[in-house]
Amino acid sequence: MSVSDIKESYDEYADQMDRFEWIDSVILGRYRRARFGDVEGRVLDVACGTGTNFKYLPDSVDLVGIDISPEMLANATKQLAELEIDGNLKEMDAQELKFADDSFNAVISSLSTCTFPDPVAVLREMERVCKPDGTIRLVEHGRSDIGPMAKYQEWRADAHYEKTGCRWTQEPRELVSEAGLDVRNTNTGLFGTITTFEITPNQRDQR
Ligand SMILES: C[S@@+](CC[C@H](N)C(=O)[O-])C[C@H]1O[C@@H](n2cnc3c(N)ncnc32)[C@H](O)[C@@H]1O
Repeated sequence: MSVSDIKESYDEYADQMDRFEWIDSVILGRYRRARFGDVEGRVLDVACGTGTNFKYLPDSVDLVGIDISPEMLANATKQLAELEIDGNLKEMDAQELKFADDSFNAVISSLSTCTFPDPVAVLREMERVCKPDGTIRLVEHGRSDIGPMAKYQEWRADAHYEKTGCRWTQEPRELVSEAGLDVRNTNTGLFGTITTFEITPNQRDQR
């Protein structure tokens, strides 16, 4: 799917995703809180969607969120208002972030690499805009490490991609490694389907 197909698809799903956010809180809330709950300073949420991560961030952060879908961003704007957070949301393609190098203390993203046409390029963009002493945090989904569950995912993968633009058997560890990122800490949960990362940006001369 192209970026514009994905944009259309998420424009269509935005209200539904917002309505079912309570299910996300029950299942994924603890992963989001554990990875994003201690970030500081100027924080970029890449592909922020309906703003699901916002409630897990400390009140003190200076938040910027980007997403390709205006409808997802409309829900994220409501989320900011409900949480009384003063964030700044922009429509933008994650593959070409319109921010200068070293702009953020923390770059976070969740359940997003599965939808980018070039996820490795996005991971490199995240590193570029993150300060060298900053941190990149990810909560991503992938193939289960439980055999029958992985088989089911593989069986449904093409149909799921056609419907949602999400490659749900894509393995986030492989992407992070291909992007050459320096993983400081990682863990996996929910039958191997969720992997979270704390990444230290490489120094600029090593990029
Ligand atoms: C599954 S949703 C995840 C949203 C949110 N991060 C969360 O954890 O709930 C994937 C998001 O990626 C966004 N997205 C997909 N491709 C994008 C791109 N090239 N640039 C920016 N956002 C993109 C979609 O619009 C959608 O909001």
